[in-house]
Amino acid sequence: MSTTFQLDTATSRANPTPAPMKRLTVPAIQRRKFEGKTKEPLVMLTAYTARQAQLLDQHCDMLLVGDSLGQVIYGLPSTLQVTLDMMIAHGAAVVRGSYHSVVIVDMPFGAYEASPQQAFSAASRIMAETGAAAVKLEGGQAMADTIAFLTQRGIPVMAHVGLTPQAVNALGGYGARGRSQEEHAKIIADGQAVADAGAFAMVVEGVVEPIAIALTQSVEIPVIGIGASAQCDGQVLVTEDMLGMFERVPRFVKKYGDIAGFISDTAAKYAEEVRARTFPGLEQTYQPK
Ligand code: KIV
Repeated sequence: MSTTFQLDTATSRANPTPAPMKRLTVPAIQRRKFEGKTKEPLVMLTAYTARQAQLLDQHCDMLLVGDSLGQVIYGLPSTLQVTLDMMIAHGAAVVRGSYHSVVIVDMPFGAYEASPQQAFSAASRIMAETGAAAVKLEGGQAMADTIAFLTQRGIPVMAHVGLTPQAVNALGGYGARGRSQEEHAKIIADGQAVADAGAFAMVVEGVVEPIAIALTQSVEIPVIGIGASAQCDGQVLVTEDMLGMFERVPRFVKKYGDIAGFISDTAAKYAEEVRARTFPGLEQTYQPK
């Protein structure tokens, strides 16, 4: 039995604890796609903190420590400002808070594109310092050599094609991709290239649905959609988007909750009680014996 870190919800501390079950593995995820189809879709959500991971873990197959944490956690304008150290700190927290899901950590912009060797040095730090099972990187044909280099050296890679947010400046925005014949063919070629290079799975983001379906049917590895199609082998969303943390979300997000409203209403109640001196009450204060 392996050791993990369980969050003690009474104290918020992470304690080394024997894991109650064996964690899912990268090969097990890949095996879920048989004969060109995943019978039960794979479930992936983003996670950035230990407590969030603890809450999501039992419901997911994979937890993605996405570089979307730049906007979601740090209020940055895009993912371009996210650093390797940020990804490592959050990756380690998510591994500590989970014991079931495969944890995948995004490689941040600038940490892997220059060469396969640069990618290996960033990815090996991620693997060694977080305990995650895999890394994710953006790019198709241009990243095929890098994906082969990493996978041949023991680092499982999830690829990311279609709308690749780190390339926002080159793409000219976050609009859906693949509306022209040329773009359609390029995205399919990208997906096939990363699968041939040895990626164990890929994210396809923000593409017209026929591309997502064609890609899912044409490669043997799981294709995880976001703004893609229910026909993909699995789905991923940014957890905060799905929880309703933000008013404005991309069209492809379904809000399953209203966490922003809950936080605001709860903070308003707290503020009212503080101002009325009804908090803290007897139950929250220490009285002499
Ligand atoms: O950074 C991220 O959260 C992602 C997902 C949206 C796929 O890459």
